[in-house]
Amino acid sequence: MTTTPQSTSTLITGGNKGLGLETARRLGEQGWTIFLGSRDPGRGRTAADQLSARGVNVTMVPLDVTSDQSMADAVGLVRQHTDRLDVLVDNAGAAGNIVTPEEVTVAEVHSVYNTNVYGPIRVTKAFLPLLRVADNPRVVMVSSAIGSMTIATDPTHPLRHSTSSPTAPPKQH
Ligand SMILES: NC(=O)c1ccc[n+]([C@@H]2O[C@H](COP(=O)([O-])OP(=O)(O)OC[C@H]3O[C@@H](n4cnc5c(N)ncnc54)[C@H](OP(=O)(O)O)[C@@H]3O)[C@@H](O)[C@H]2O)c1
Repeated sequence: MTTTPQSTSTLITGGNKGLGLETARRLGEQGWTIFLGSRDPGRGRTAADQLSARGVNVTMVPLDVTSDQSMADAVGLVRQHTDRLDVLVDNAGAAGNIVTPEEVTVAEVHSVYNTNVYGPIRVTKAFLPLLRVADNPRVVMVSSAIGSMTIATDPTHPLRHSTSSPTAPPKQH
């Protein structure tokens, strides 16, 4: 079976606002079936209602990427609507507090890693069975220039110092 734009399905994590919502709008307006992930069901419903009013075929999926139980419930809900998933967009992310290495706490690092690193691993593993039965499954990992190893190690790049300290420039020795 050939997948057409009309039959392509996608789950977008963190789809209730920002880049996730805009991605959902653009793909939905092309006829894709949208599963809009949102950790807060109220915010998710508001976003889904906006898309629905524009004619988008959208289902809101409560989904907190830091919770295994939420992940299992999300897979169960998507399975009620489809037996395959064509595109997974791992978009949910949290910047955390931008602080110096001296100020950062283990709790803060854990919280950011739990969302930005372990989150996409949880979501992708949970949805792999649905992705594997699609003809051309795709996983899209939304990242950041600030996460780029190339930029972090290029002393001439303008974003270089946002990967170290926002307040204190590197000490000159
Ligand atoms: N905007 C940029 O310039 C930029 C640049 C580089 C990279 N990015 C990346 O692009 C992605 C989207 O960015 P954005 O600017 O659209 O950010 P945003 O407006 O802050 O939206 C982030 C989304 O992620 C959700 N989220 C946070 N923690 C979550 C969790 N534990 N479980 C599920 N959802 C969670 C948020 O939900 P709530 O509404 O409930 O908080 C929100 O829907 C992020 O991964 C970000 O790192 C953005």
